[in-house]
Amino acid sequence: MRVAVTGGAGRLGRSVVAGLAAAGHEVTSLDLRPVPGPPDDGAAHLRIDLADAVATRATFATLAPQALVHLAAIAVPFSRPEHEIWDLNTSVTFHAVDAALAAGADHVLIASSPTVLGYGAPLGWSPSYLPLDEAHPIAPWNAYALSKAAMESIGRMVATQRGDDVRVASFRPCYVIAPEEWAGAPTQQGHTVAQRLADPALAAASLFNYVDARDAAGFVERWLEAAREAPNAQTYLVGAADAFSARPTADVVAEHLPALAPFAAGVAGHDPLFSVAKAERELGWRPERTWRAETAGGPARGAALPDDDDDAAPVERVAAARGGEGA
Ligand SMILES: NC(=O)c1ccc[n+]([C@@H]2O[C@H](COP(=O)([O-])OP(=O)(O)OC[C@H]3O[C@@H](n4cnc5c(N)ncnc54)[C@H](O)[C@@H]3O)[C@@H](O)[C@H]2O)c1
Repeated sequence: MRVAVTGGAGRLGRSVVAGLAAAGHEVTSLDLRPVPGPPDDGAAHLRIDLADAVATRATFATLAPQALVHLAAIAVPFSRPEHEIWDLNTSVTFHAVDAALAAGADHVLIASSPTVLGYGAPLGWSPSYLPLDEAHPIAPWNAYALSKAAMESIGRMVATQRGDDVRVASFRPCYVIAPEEWAGAPTQQGHTVAQRLADPALAAASLFNYVDARDAAGFVERWLEAAREAPNAQTYLVGAADAFSARPTADVVAEHLPALAPFAAGVAGHDPLFSVAKAERELGWRPERTWRAETAGGPARGAALPDDDDDAAPVERVAAARGGEGA
């Protein structure tokens, strides 16, 4: 399949681009910035600002992709002024989807976020039930989460407009950990995997969720394969099969998220607070990697960031200080 991946130079995008190319797809990555290092992932890489609707339409017309995987976004809450996050995330999604459909694409997959559910809200939040699933009510409380809810709506609009001729879905990846981050490179919030494991308060901000970027890439691949037969216009949570905690989930929830404790009492062992049963049921996808296996050799601390992330890390640390968690 000819696949256009927006945000292909990003933390998740690099694994998605490499995974789809390795699976035999003809992949073009579209991103504002270059991939760090020489691209050796078997894909084509184009630099483009998707905020430019005219340039986006022209580029997609030339590429004529059959599928759009839309990942480009400001991915960290509070990393820019709220209005910029709202404007960019919603407009680039509209432009990319509009341009892909105009160019003939009949598969559209949009990266949303579990933050649409509303956890971390300054006035408090408690779930309707645990584990969280796709049927749980959403309650976005910042521009990032609200933009993700709007992006999911753009996907549903496509289904309303085009019916089942176009297959469309949104997915909500949990806290994405890229391959180099298991080895010690900083994660999205600026700290390492080792620090996140040592200080449960860090992972509590995302309700101990996480997903290996290659597993999320596997979800994208699986959706492209299965979308024709699966229910259309769906949303999927995409997370690991366990919680990001060395201690049993209910114990760390009781200590770090006391408002959730009554709901978590029935969560067994190290099970996650996010269910990925729908993705398994409808698409046959399941996560394969766990933090235990990935850190079994001991995560190396302080590994170098890929070149192009050097200037992003301080912004992410500022966002972390304000409670902005991208997952
Ligand atoms: N990382 C996570 O934990 C996480 C969790 C939930 C959802 N998500 C979502 O997954 C997607 C990918 O996240 P990520 O962690 O890889 O983020 P990232 O910041 O590493 O990558 C996003 C990419 O989008 C590109 N981009 C931004 N604006 C653009 C524009 N105007 N034109 C072209 N490209 C542009 C950036 O250059 C960047 O390479 C995002 O939509 C994010 O909101 C991420």
